[in-house]
Amino acid sequence: MSFNPNARISLVGAGPGDPELITLKGLRALQTADAVLYDALASKALLSEAPRESARIFVGKRKGHKTWSQDAINVLLVETARQRGHVVRLKGGDPFVFGRGYEEMEFAQKNGIPAQYIPGISSAVAVPGLAGIPVTHRNLSRSCWIVTATCSDGSLSADLRQAAASDATVVVLMGWSKPPEIIALFAAAGKSALPAAVLQNGSLPESRAVYGRVEDILQKTGRMGIGSPAVLVFGPVAALRENELHRIVQSANF
Ligand SMILES: C[S@@+](CC[C@H](N)C(=O)[O-])C[C@H]1O[C@@H](n2cnc3c(N)ncnc32)[C@H](O)[C@@H]1O
Repeated sequence: MSFNPNARISLVGAGPGDPELITLKGLRALQTADAVLYDALASKALLSEAPRESARIFVGKRKGHKTWSQDAINVLLVETARQRGHVVRLKGGDPFVFGRGYEEMEFAQKNGIPAQYIPGISSAVAVPGLAGIPVTHRNLSRSCWIVTATCSDGSLSADLRQAAASDATVVVLMGWSKPPEIIALFAAAGKSALPAAVLQNGSLPESRAVYGRVEDILQKTGRMGIGSPAVLVFGPVAALRENELHRIVQSANF
């Protein structure tokens, strides 16, 4: 089989969901793609930015679709670049924030395919921000932990226990399979009154947000029937969206 001399990979962060939240550099890469390999959380609207003749291959996890292992995605990326040329690997948020992007770049480079990283706006920061929650605030939070709820073996991350005991803003990704366990960690750390928020489908028209405290957030989300994908936020900053300044910003309707 002939080797396409233009073989290369751009690992592009698509942002949190709103197609307008991709970077200009990411958009330009898409517009020169010979093939796009995309995930479930990358905006489908962005696919129309790729040239009409380029291949569009879904490699995410979704009911009714073949589930790709990470190894299979790595091989497909390299093979597609060899056959077609410029492959854009389009991932939700930022490819290096719980995105396995580094593994894909490493595999490409080991196989002689040049790969570049084009950052994206991570849901970890943008989804809280769009819900009126700044992840840091001069007077309220001097740091922010971005933690996954689930380790590769499916167990609850030990980092989460440390994060729950800290004064940092804690942003939990991939937490929707384990909300009671996560909330229990904060309660055990004496944080029952800590402001908390659960934010689903941030940046999209169907976004939903539930605000409360550690002690009542589960009850509130249960009533709303919130599901995945969702970001959980814990910390004093989660109460900010209730303040007057935020109401003014929201009503300005920018
Ligand atoms: C595999 S991680 C990928 C994160 C991504 N690389 C990023 O930087 O946003 C997927 C998790 O990101 C979060 N997520 C991504 N997009 C989201 C959105 N629009 N609204 C809420 N949570 C989102 C959810 O916690 C989801 O389970």
